[in-house]
Amino acid sequence: MKIGAKQMRTIWVEPDGASLGIIDQTQLPHRFAIVRLETLEDVARAIKTMQVRGAPLIGTAAAYGIWLALRADAADEALERACATLVATRPTAVNLAWALEEMQAAVRNRPRAERAEAALRRATEIAQDDVATNQAIGRHGLEIIEKISARKNGKPVNVLTHCNAGWLATVDWGTATAPIYMAHDKGLPLHVFAGETRPRNQGASLTAWELGHHGVPHTVIADNAGGHLMQHGHVDLVIVGADRVTAQGDVCNKIGTYLKALAAHDNKVPFYVALPSPTIDFRIIEGTGDIPIEQRAADEVSTITGKTKDGRIETVQIVPDGSQVANYGFDVTPARFISGLITERGVIAANRAALAQAFPERAEVRPKSDRRIS
Ligand code: MRU
Repeated sequence: MKIGAKQMRTIWVEPDGASLGIIDQTQLPHRFAIVRLETLEDVARAIKTMQVRGAPLIGTAAAYGIWLALRADAADEALERACATLVATRPTAVNLAWALEEMQAAVRNRPRAERAEAALRRATEIAQDDVATNQAIGRHGLEIIEKISARKNGKPVNVLTHCNAGWLATVDWGTATAPIYMAHDKGLPLHVFAGETRPRNQGASLTAWELGHHGVPHTVIADNAGGHLMQHGHVDLVIVGADRVTAQGDVCNKIGTYLKALAAHDNKVPFYVALPSPTIDFRIIEGTGDIPIEQRAADEVSTITGKTKDGRIETVQIVPDGSQVANYGFDVTPARFISGLITERGVIAANRAALAQAFPERAEVRPKSDRRIS
């Protein structure tokens, strides 16, 4: 996407051919900073501290992390250590495990001397595929927006989204945002409600920032305002992203998504989830039990960071001393609340048969619940 006049992605190989460049998302929206990653440990830290975040970008960064690791040491043990280091960074987004499996498959049978180059080739493919996949998601999602727009006689289509499933969460275009950017670029009247997404405010700080840069009309709302807006007919559809989708279509996404789905269901507002196929975990059927839900540090909830009137970035405490704090990062929306899954192969129903039919090559794996796990 464009930052000012410059076409940008969220991650790239630096001109030295030996390091990565990323946009440091922890400094947005008030500071636009580029950070260079030179080692596996740099990549692991960038994922853990959320300088890079969002399921598809986490997977892509991990893939490049394997490349950097193999540049330093291409031995089998080093490859295993690198995978163990990266998979331990964050537990919920399945794109991380998917990317590591892809990278291992791409290099494990190669002579050591060829491994780093093969890893770079595969990581580059994963990045390119992510962009093409999101464009396809954009085209399929655009049809949904166009149908609603046709009924609105020129009035804006109001889309509500949660967290950031934008180009900042992917290599480019985003998942939930791709249809929004395509509709906007096509001149469809459109407006986005961006839920702030406490505690890390991905909606208020990242989604608003990227929509603003693209000129898409938007309004930042408190997370708890979504239900009220739906109840009063101010929302035409909800589009969110996903960190893991099970074989039966249960969707794990940023904490608070489930509450939006309940409100959408109660108010008959279409609720769509946009995702690339690497986000589907066919090993799991039932989402509320089997998906690991990340719990992050308490200070993400007990403090908040922002810009002071004189431009300084400050973090302040908002919770009284001594209060217990819990910080769940994700929740699961059961398939029955989902109007459709917007994937690179089209809009499909959130059920086992439709997912298996759309992705037969991936659906072959036997779900954990069917296997006697040792
Ligand atoms: O904790 P984050 O910021 O990595 O969570 C991101 C989300 O929940 C996104 O909605 C999801 O990863 C999809 S990104 C296309």
